[in-house]
Amino acid sequence: MTDQAIAEQRSVLREDSAAKTVLDNSQGLRIGHFTAGYPKRNIITNLNVPKLPRGKITVLLGPNGSGKSTLLRSLAGLNKAQGELVLDGQDLMKMPFAKRAEQVVYLPQSLPAGVHLHVLESIIVAQRASGGGANHQAQSTAQVMELLAQLGIEHLALSYLDQLSGGQKQLVGLAQSLIRQPALLLLDEPLSALDLNYQFHVMDLVRRETQKRNIITVVVVHDINIALRHSDHVLMLKDGKMIANGEPEEVITPESLATVYGVRGRIERCSQGIPQIMIDGLVKQPVM
Ligand SMILES: Nc1ncnc2c1ncn2[C@@H]1O[C@H](COP(=O)(O)OP(=O)(O)OP(=O)(O)O)[C@@H](O)[C@H]1O
Ligand SMILES: [Mg+2]
Repeated sequence: MTDQAIAEQRSVLREDSAAKTVLDNSQGLRIGHFTAGYPKRNIITNLNVPKLPRGKITVLLGPNGSGKSTLLRSLAGLNKAQGELVLDGQDLMKMPFAKRAEQVVYLPQSLPAGVHLHVLESIIVAQRASGGGANHQAQSTAQVMELLAQLGIEHLALSYLDQLSGGQKQLVGLAQSLIRQPALLLLDEPLSALDLNYQFHVMDLVRRETQKRNIITVVVVHDINIALRHSDHVLMLKDGKMIANGEPEEVITPESLATVYGVRGRIERCSQGIPQIMIDGLVKQPVM
């Protein structure tokens, strides 16, 4: 494809994505009396989140084993669950799985072993899997190239998935998720294999795309400073229960850090006014 053809298609795609932007901010996701887990074991119990708004990025925090992945998988319909899950007035729990998968995309914490496919092909396949249609090859290619460029991995388009580094695979996984244009984007530790530069870049991009596309994004991270800097909203889980829900600086406090993580922490502003966390030690265990 010539440079001019690619440029023209990019412009069509930009107009197309602007037209798809939904401006109604009253929409969002409501989670009510939500219980979820595995056949013999509930992990998430009676979770209530009145509203996760569109256009905002929510960070899901919690210790290892607190139920973050279980919750995201359950929201995507991949684990057993009961309760209310209402996206823009539609009941996701009653929706056929294929229809739900067009609206909700889950990027797992552990990526499947890479197959012997080009990055470009793998992303086009991901797009088709969510209803992109078989006769949109040209447009899809331009869309994928645009997205790869935004992620800074345009040079990997013709590399094989099974020959990428861990971080490169993670970035391709993110591209596969974004290309599907979900209404609800669930990213499970998408930064775990990324260097400092890409961590910042990805969070910045995901936040911008969340706003531009007016979607609901939930991201699991373990780095509290990333949550403080890059999220609009924070949910904190412990033992499958919601401990706190609100704006980052309301939720991330010395008290919640002690309750949820068992650490003594301080939140202080750096010389540029950005809140930062410092950990001074562990909360003392009671003497038995
Ligand atoms: N397939 C499974 N069957 C039964 N129990 C499971 C299964 N997968 C996870 N669990 C249990 O569910 C609980 C929550 O696990 P989950 O993976 O949701 O935690 P997490 O918050 O994502 O932790 P991490 O930060 O380590 O990724 C754990 O006690 C775990 O042992
Ligand atoms: Mg997990």
